[in-house]
Amino acid sequence: MKTILLLPVLTLPALAEVPFQVAAETASIRFTPEGNGFVMEVNDPGNHAWMLQSTDNSSGWTNMATHRVFNGSLRIPVPRDGSRRLFRLNSDVAGQVSSSAANALILPGSPYNYANAALPAHLLTPQIQGQNNTPVTNPTTNAGAALGRVLFYDKRLSANQTVSCSSCHQAQHGFSDPRKFSVGFDGGLTDRNSMGLTNARYYLRENFFWDERAATLEDQVLMPIQNEVEMGMTLDLLVQRIDAEPFYDELFTAAFGTPEVNVTRISRALAQFVRSIVSGSSKYDLGVPTNFSNLTALENQGRQIFQGPAGGCAACHGSDNFVPGNAIFNNGLENPYVDKGLGEVTGLTSDEGFFKVSSLRNIELTAPYMHDGRFATLEQVVEFYNSGVVSHPNLSPQLRLPPGPPGSPPPQPRRLNLTAQQKTALVAFLKTLTDTSVTTHPKYSDPFRYQAQ
Ligand code: HEC
Ligand code: HEC
Repeated sequence: MKTILLLPVLTLPALAEVPFQVAAETASIRFTPEGNGFVMEVNDPGNHAWMLQSTDNSSGWTNMATHRVFNGSLRIPVPRDGSRRLFRLNSDVAGQVSSSAANALILPGSPYNYANAALPAHLLTPQIQGQNNTPVTNPTTNAGAALGRVLFYDKRLSANQTVSCSSCHQAQHGFSDPRKFSVGFDGGLTDRNSMGLTNARYYLRENFFWDERAATLEDQVLMPIQNEVEMGMTLDLLVQRIDAEPFYDELFTAAFGTPEVNVTRISRALAQFVRSIVSGSSKYDLGVPTNFSNLTALENQGRQIFQGPAGGCAACHGSDNFVPGNAIFNNGLENPYVDKGLGEVTGLTSDEGFFKVSSLRNIELTAPYMHDGRFATLEQVVEFYNSGVVSHPNLSPQLRLPPGPPGSPPPQPRRLNLTAQQKTALVAFLKTLTDTSVTTHPKYSDPFRYQAQ
């Protein structure tokens, strides 16, 4: 079906958005004045090709340029030209522009270093290496993670091509979502708060999700794609879509030796990319070699509260990755638990309220907090641990008073009784775990070109 959009430039309102149908998709074009011309922002979940045409009203339409939408949207700057009065986009050119990694994506000449990124000595110790959940069958390679990066940002992974992994794992938010619950491809809400992905590579138990229901990251990455709220796809359709996109040929070949697209390869590449997101240059990291002489007095006070008995946080958020050892905890958020966490998976009352403790790295950026996003700020989190831990039969012992003599009832939740100044210090310390060199690094950013080619 041929779709034509007319744009009378001279009568253009300052800002206009025009929805229209292209085959089965609802697309739209937004016009915004820019410089002495304007910009057409095409939103087209079907990734069609478009011909930009213009006319001076007396001599028919002239083709100006063919553009292809690569990831659901495209930005076409159109300079104003005195003699031309009308512009239109004609979608009847599908197939006429083929894509390649070069015209669809902004990639470096040789891939970024994902496989052997430099890490400080304290992230290379046997303890930290023991937390590394990279399987021998899927080591991270530069080309594999580079492919994973493109897949992570590609909206083809959702049924109507409107949502990518990055929609709910946004780099500037520590690869998490600032919304309490994320919005899936069809407008539905997820039932939990999105999780930050910084240093997800380090977790001794190797399980993923708040309730640890995914045994490995390779399993996990395929689950949002098939989730009926998140991306709504089948694996067959996934392979078909990725296979149909020419620019993936070279990326799969670089990563796996041949252009063949299959589910295992997609899962491996996505897992490699997620594992490559490692922070080792936060203020905290820079402080390790100098006994934290770079931290302010307030931050160091907070560090001592976090690591020492006054806060006792490191009992569950331990090591330089701020993750536990081989344990999952109940931190007494409520009783009864609306969302039973691990208990939903096992069906056991004794597992109710147990949730994964993922790394606190970049925690400042990943608000809101907890599996249900109940706390908007770190101040609220600290106040919760200070005075709000709820009595629950499964409450982990680290958050209870010391046990009484044998036979006495389980101890009550502990109260930290921190002063306002101590709470401020604890929050200041948590912010030393922020590492924007990761969240802003181009190697983790959206690789798609949204500019007209
Ligand atoms: C619509 C929003 C949404 C989309 C799209 C989405 N996620 Fe998530 N992600 C979430 C939510 C919510 C959770 C927590 C869900 C839970 O624990 O039940 C999560 C959890 C995760 C985790 C677990 C982290 C950990 O430490 O256990 C990983 C890894 C992850 N997502 C990667 C991905 C990848 C890769 C994609 C794309 C293939 C993706 N996500 C797409 C919302 C989303
Ligand atoms: C008994 C173990 C335990 C202790 C001790 C503990 N936590 Fe937690 N923490 C958890 C668990 C479990 C979660 C996730 C709970 C959930 O979402 O239901 C969590 C979540 C958090 C989160 C939110 C993480 C996110 O991604 O949303 C922050 C921040 C946090 N804890 C900070 C602290 C601080 C600060 C202390 C010390 C005052 C502390 N914790 C002590 C177990 C613990």
